[in-house]
Amino acid sequence: MSGAGPHVLYLDHHATTPVDPRVMAVMEPLFTERFGNAASHTHPIGWRAEAVVEVAREQIAEALGAGDPRTIVFTSGATESNNLALLGAVRASRRERPHVVTVATEHPAVLDPCRVLEAGGVRLTVLPVADDGLVDPAAVAGAIDDDTVVVSVMAANNEIGVLQPLDEIGRLCAERGVLLHSDAAQAVGKIPLDVEELGLDLLSVSGHKLYGPQGIGVLYVRRQKGGKRVRLEPLQYGGGHEWGLRSGTLPMPLIAGLARAIELAQAEREEEGARLAKLRELLWMELRAGVPDLLVNGHPTRRLPANLNVALPGARAEALLSALHDVAISSGSACSSARPGPSHVLRALGLSDERIACSIRIGLGRFTTEDEIHRAGGRIAEEARKLREGAPPPADPSGGVR
Ligand SMILES: Cc1ncc(COP(=O)(O)O)c(C=O)c1O
Repeated sequence: MSGAGPHVLYLDHHATTPVDPRVMAVMEPLFTERFGNAASHTHPIGWRAEAVVEVAREQIAEALGAGDPRTIVFTSGATESNNLALLGAVRASRRERPHVVTVATEHPAVLDPCRVLEAGGVRLTVLPVADDGLVDPAAVAGAIDDDTVVVSVMAANNEIGVLQPLDEIGRLCAERGVLLHSDAAQAVGKIPLDVEELGLDLLSVSGHKLYGPQGIGVLYVRRQKGGKRVRLEPLQYGGGHEWGLRSGTLPMPLIAGLARAIELAQAEREEEGARLAKLRELLWMELRAGVPDLLVNGHPTRRLPANLNVALPGARAEALLSALHDVAISSGSACSSARPGPSHVLRALGLSDERIACSIRIGLGRFTTEDEIHRAGGRIAEEARKLREGAPPPADPSGGVR
């Protein structure tokens, strides 16, 4: 089941994932017969909703290795979590000229708030990556100075899937007494991740990347680090929910869904990761059979098991995607719908414009089957071969509406 319709093979799971039916089953009654506002303290309907939220908070804290459930702050998604972490930490710092360190391949939901801070007078260091997409922990260490408030390094990249060396970076940030934030939107439930083991102070999670609902996320906010508490300035003010860090009525059904989604992803992570890695290998072989000179973008092994980002030389992604009406994948440049143009991630790897233009991102998922991989691999290779041979592209039966 791809869930994307009878004719479309959905292999774009970095963009979003379908809600798992087991998650849907938990949420459904909470919208209707078991509704409630968790902040209504004067009656049982409110108490009931509050209990749902607090159980979910405990489950999520446990899954992230956080211990204290009060470290879990509910937000609308990873974009908001990243903004709250970065703007919040810098605005709460007492440094005269605060400094922030991040990496060139971060998602715009990290890079843009950093640029906003920079425009407001904050010093910003954006570290480069090697041609495999990895940042050098020694470069992070070298960038930290006495004014550094926060270092932000993503756990897994949303385009090339590479896994940054967070453990080493966590150790050195702890030694230097600097906050470490990680955008883990693509990583939670996909790779082992424990905020204590990694020494993380702030961690962003998104529901819709792990078979939970859209519109819900978490910011993990460490409560204590060597006697130090992570202080954040809120982005919005109102009813004082979430310890004043994020005012607004809690979306109780989505919160319960997120907790169930994380629980399932963690419980099935190892087995599912192995299954996806096998399917990815199969896809790689299918593609290579049709396009023998294809190239992998990013580190060949240190990446999410479900991610494949490849350049198909001579087949421009734009033309390929419009020829593939039946396979949902994205181009290397499709990191944000509002931002056309070459992918900043692939550029940061130092790839040529030509290679970037011929790159596609494929994200396998929980409901992807072996049969789908054979069909998708065959179709991608077939259309790529046609483009390489200079055949005119087929007419678009959708009339160009995609
Ligand atoms: C790495 C990364 N960070 C942040 C986001 C934004 O997450 P959300 O859609 O939950 O705001 C995404 C999703 O596009 C992502 O892949």
